[in-house]
Amino acid sequence: MNNPTPSVDRIIIFDTTLRDGEQSPGATLNVEEKLTIARQLARLGVDVIEAGFPFASPGDFEAVQKIAQQVGTPDGPTICGLARATRQDIEAAAKALKPAAKPRIHTFIATSDIHLAYKLKKTRPEVLAIAEEMVAYAKSFVDDVEFSPEDAGRSEPEFLYQVLERAIAAGATTINIPDTVGYLTPSEFGALIKGIKENVPNIDQAVISVHGHNDLGLAVANFLEAVKNGARQLECTINGIGERAGNAALEELVMALHVRRQFYNPFLGRPPESEAPLTNIDTHQIYKTSRLVSNLTGMLVQPNKAIVGANAFAHESGIHQDGVLKHKLTYEIMDAQSIGLTDNQIVLGKHSGRNAFRSRLRELGYELGDQELNRAFLRFKELADKKKEVTDWDLEAIVNDEAQQV
Ligand code: KIV
Ligand code: ZN
Repeated sequence: MNNPTPSVDRIIIFDTTLRDGEQSPGATLNVEEKLTIARQLARLGVDVIEAGFPFASPGDFEAVQKIAQQVGTPDGPTICGLARATRQDIEAAAKALKPAAKPRIHTFIATSDIHLAYKLKKTRPEVLAIAEEMVAYAKSFVDDVEFSPEDAGRSEPEFLYQVLERAIAAGATTINIPDTVGYLTPSEFGALIKGIKENVPNIDQAVISVHGHNDLGLAVANFLEAVKNGARQLECTINGIGERAGNAALEELVMALHVRRQFYNPFLGRPPESEAPLTNIDTHQIYKTSRLVSNLTGMLVQPNKAIVGANAFAHESGIHQDGVLKHKLTYEIMDAQSIGLTDNQIVLGKHSGRNAFRSRLRELGYELGDQELNRAFLRFKELADKKKEVTDWDLEAIVNDEAQQV
């Protein structure tokens, strides 16, 4: 089967907060919470939402199905479901994704010798045959099939090339290269993508995607190197949540591509000075999305986290404060407004009214009903009487307390 040659003029952002992100220890989300996050991801402008792993549990199936129905509209994002390379998994994914206007099945099987020997207990020819057969099976349900050779980062390159060639020939339109254990360094990851481009004969029929974990803190750097070498889809999560040390963080990737677009433009065949965005993300929605995911998963964002941490735009030292007051560019490489923070942060205190209170909560990702808002506002006033300034952390504590008392 031949796939049409994909033409990608921007970097595709594939968000897996609801699948790999939810695999963070302690970060389970219920169906309603997943729907709320999926709606916000659509507002953020992600191209693909990996909504879950439908065969894994009835709850995951229901979440993928509801997201497919309610967020997977014709002008909304592609909705993707994960499936191991088995018939049962693929059938569950196909069924859950049926209501989506643009469904994608993402099927995977490991290709590293370590995984073959100890996890799958299969030979390379067996894995090759399964990959080919299951991609073709997924293709019998949907046009848009993504294939991942799990642990690609530690797979023998010649075998990896063979598996990818066969998966593309069987109908995969995206081939995703996971650094499953976060082992590679940026130059190694770049070379891996380059090797795939040069050695997989039908590679032009598929989009090259990357997926990576942050065990050595290198996931974002690895992806940026992959972009330079031809990767056009990035798989990432909000706040970088995910298994172990997490996944590549969406907000860091998007802002790196945005702030340094003159550097990355030529790798996409554009003149350096082009102002066309490199992704479809509405960067102004980043902060709100980060807060929402943190609130619903209960996973705190470290204060010094790039882009969305509480200190990311704060200047503490006198020298820095003085410099920024004279000219922002002295110590700031991006504008807080570009991620949706208001520059003139309204400081909430005892004189603030309900509207300012409601609007700050909205910026933090909370949409309260009238009664909840009234109760929260009363508590805010009590606190404001005792404290000069009420911080975002105070507001979150108030709202979370309210939620627990309801
Ligand atoms: O890390 C990984 O290899 C994965 C695959 C399922 C893509 O999450
Ligand atoms: Zn992963």
